[in-house]
Amino acid sequence: MLLGTATQALEHAYAPYSDFPVGAALITEDGRLFTGCNVENASYGLTICAERAAIFNAINQVQGKLKLRAIAVVNGRDVPCSPCGACRQVIAEFGEHTVCVFRGENEYIDMSIAELLPETFRLS
Ligand code: THU
Repeated sequence: MLLGTATQALEHAYAPYSDFPVGAALITEDGRLFTGCNVENASYGLTICAERAAIFNAINQVQGKLKLRAIAVVNGRDVPCSPCGACRQVIAEFGEHTVCVFRGENEYIDMSIAELLPETFRLS
């Protein structure tokens, strides 16, 4: 279900430079769904990944109180694509047990953010 929603979000991607459209869908602990896509820019470094776009979209609609249960990511080339390091840090901010669903070498796999980003940076 989350992968299907992420695939729909992929259709909104703006990726003229990489030609690598990405869609993400997340579900919160209380069952709300939000989506995002990558948005690129001629100044490449300004690009935002689909995962962070989905999280920032969600944050805007839950009055800043976001608890992630899971996030799925799909890409238009159907190649392996795990969340980048920056996105891992942002995912971890909103749920230390978040399940990440992404295309691995042979199939879609589930991994917790704790596995993907051990020793997450936290201000405490
Ligand atoms: N990208 C994502 O949106 N999510 C990922 O997990 C990996 C990379 C985007 C960023 C850029 O627009 C394009 O994919 C190529 O790096």
